[in-house]
Order: sequence, then C-alpha cells, then structure tokens
Amino acid sequence: MFQLMAKTVKQKKAIITGITGQDGSYLAELLIKKGYQVHGLIRRASIIKTDRIDHIFNNPKIFNKTFFLHYGDMTDDISINSLIYKIRPDEIYNLAAQSHVKVSFELPMYTANADALGTLRILESVKSLRLNTKVYQASTSEIYGNSSKVKLDENSVFRPVSPYGIAKLYSFEIIRAYRKAYNMFACNGILFNHESPRRGETFVTRKITKGLANYVHKQESFLLGNLNAYRDWGHAKEYVDAMWKMMQLKKPIDLVISTGKSYSVRDFLVEAMKILEINFIEIKNRKETKFIDKKNNQLICKTDKRYERPNEVNYLLGNSNLAFKRIKWKPKVTFKELVKEMVNFDLINVKKEK
Ligand code: NAP
Ligand code: GDD
Repeated sequence: MFQLMAKTVKQKKAIITGITGQDGSYLAELLIKKGYQVHGLIRRASIIKTDRIDHIFNNPKIFNKTFFLHYGDMTDDISINSLIYKIRPDEIYNLAAQSHVKVSFELPMYTANADALGTLRILESVKSLRLNTKVYQASTSEIYGNSSKVKLDENSVFRPVSPYGIAKLYSFEIIRAYRKAYNMFACNGILFNHESPRRGETFVTRKITKGLANYVHKQESFLLGNLNAYRDWGHAKEYVDAMWKMMQLKKPIDLVISTGKSYSVRDFLVEAMKILEINFIEIKNRKETKFIDKKNNQLICKTDKRYERPNEVNYLLGNSNLAFKRIKWKPKVTFKELVKEMVNFDLINVKKEK
C-alpha cells in the first residue's frame, strides 16, 4: 500500500537589487511566476520611479504578500547588511548599478562606490552572517574594453576603458575571489547589451526608438553620438532567464550571455527607420552626420560631439557556447524583432502622450 506523504516545499526567498531597473523588473516578474518571495531594494527619490514595477506593486494579491520593497542603497553598508540579515535570502541578484558608461566618466567615484564596493558589501554581509545565500553578479561586456573583432568568451582578456567597466571588473574579480576563498556560491553573468521597451531612455537604442516616435508624431529631431560603434544586442527578458538558470546550478560558474551577432548604432537607426517606412538621405561632413527625410526635407536626427565618450568601446561580439552547454540558454529574439518591438512600443506611447 502506498502512503501519500504531504511534502511541504519551502518557498525560496530572493533579494533583487536594482529592482526598479530594466532587468530588475523582468527578473521580479520571472521569480514571482516561479513562486519566489521577492524582496527588492529601492532608493529613495523625490519623485516616484517605480514605473517598471507598478504592475506588480499595484497588485494587492502580490504586494506585501510575495513581493516586498525595502529602502536601501548600494553605497550604504548598513542598509545592505541589515536587509540581508532580516531576509536571510536563498538567492541575491545584484543588478543595482550606476549603469551608464558615459555618465561614469563624470561620476567615477560614485560609480566605483556603487558598482564595485556595492558588490563587496553584499559578499561581506553573506560571509559574516554565515549564510548559504547564492549571489549573482550582473557583470558586463564593458570589462573586455577594446578587443579586436573576435567573439569574446569567458577566457578572453579583460581590458576595460571606462570607470564603469573598471568598477565592474572589480566586482567580477571579487566575486571570483570570494567563491574561491570562502567556498561561496557566487557567479558572474557577463552580459552583453540587452534592450527592451523598458530600456532607460538615455541608452542609444531607446534614444533612437523614442526619438523616431517623437519625429513621427511631433516632427521633433534628436541628437546622437558615435554611429560607428558595434554592439551585440539581445532582449532583456531572455537575459534575466539566463540569470535565474545560472543560480540553479549545483556549482557556480561565470558565463557569457550574448547573441553572437553584432550591429552598429547606424544599423539600429536604419532598421528602425525602415520599420517606420521613413526614406532618408544621409549627409556627412567633417563636423556631423545628418539624416534628412526625403519626403519633406526635414531633419530627423544628427550627430553631436556632446554624446561621444572620452574613451569608446568600438566593437563587442559575444560567444555564448558555454552558456548553451551549461544552462541550455540560447537567445531567440532576433535583432530585427527587437528593433520592431521597441519602435512599436514608443510609437504607441508617444501618440498617447500627444
Ligand atoms: P538600469 O535600468 O540602469 O537599472 C539600474 C538599477 O540600479 C535601477 O534600479 C537603479 O535604481 C539601481 N541603482 C543604481 N544605483 C543604485 C544605488 N546606489 N543603490 C541602489 N540601487 C541603485 O540597468 P539595467 O539595464 O537593468 O542593468 C541591470 C544591471 O546589469 C546593471 O548592473 C548593469 O550595469 C548590468 N548590465 C546591463 C546591461 C544592459 O545592456 N542592460 C549589460 C551588461 C550589464 P533607480 O531606479 O533608483 O535609478
Ligand atoms: N547612450 C548613448 N547615447 N550612446 C550613444 C549615443 C547616444 O546618443 N550615440 C551613439 N552612442 C553609442 C555609444 O557611444 C556606444 O558605443 C553605443 O552607442 C551604446 O551605448 P549605450 O546604449 O549607452 O550602451 P553601452 O554599450 O555604453 O552600455 C550598455 O551596455 C553595457 C554592456 O556592454 C549599458 O547597459 C551598460 O550598463 C552595460 O554594461
């Protein structure tokens, strides 16, 4: 005779830093769907900045039941330590960062404090509290710096060129050092660029899709920086899936998360204009490049030195073969599908704003 045993499955607890960001919001959705109790770290601001998680926050079945928000800051040891002490999470996803490369040249100290020491604060708390918490670090392709046009993988050389990239390299290494020295489950996802309709509006892809939506609906033009940089652009929703999969492994490893295809900023702009059926002419002189609408001779956008960086990463292309082997992760959304989703999202939103 078989006796059915009632098995109580313990609900997993996760802390997400950077929960109000693009990735944090997608990851929160994913973990809630998987039955986690999710605790997000948020910063106090003079205006409410929870747009990306409002749909979770405003759901009474979830908010303060399986989803909780806590004030804190990556630069503040006590807030990090007391949150980890209070929650004693199974998993921490460290997504919080001053994540803008160009801004990091203007705020190098702050970037180092939040993006490098912030990670150390988490590791030290987990270690000193003697927890078995797994730690995921949102590392970045910026740590490679300017490599030649080869596919970058886990064994490629790291030579970052921005204060952001350098702060993130510190985090990458301190994760590896704590893993080795204290036998902690700590891992780095070396994420190449990933975008979505939730992408911050000062990053180039969103600047283009929002800028073109403004052009279509309000006839406003916009400015861009270097059009010749290449990036390996994927969809953020798929990248948070990789984060979770990495944390379910028995042993921690670092993995490159990328699409294996690289396109220039100009390619992104041209593809977006194609979707909007804008016929343009490109006019170049020594000072700037202009994109003019063939239909009415209006300026759509032009380049401006203000948006260039003191040090640029010209080319990024990743190789995620190891991620496929170890976590069966493979991106599905193509470059064209990504551009289309972002263009359509901004087109509808700007129309509503009008
Ligand atoms: P994002 O949209 O800029 O979000 C960053 C998050 O970090 C926001 O929630 C922000 O809070 C929070 N944050 C910033 N400084 C903080 C501080 N001092 N204390 C507490 N929270 C702070 O970035 P994302 O695109 O989601 O990226 C997520 C992570 O992945 C970042 O660490 C980024 O560096 C890394 N990454 C991103 C990409 C990419 O292509 N998206 C690629 C590689 C790596 P507020 O909302 O209050 O500003
Ligand atoms: N932001 C921005 N604004 N970038 C521009 C512009 C502009 O007006 N015009 C051209 N670009 C170029 C930048 O010089 C860069 O070469 C490229 O577009 C991409 O810039 P961003 O979208 O700002 O992204 P990023 O590659 O510098 O950094 C992003 O990806 C990293 C991973 O490689 C961020 O998400 C980082 O947090 C992330 O680590």
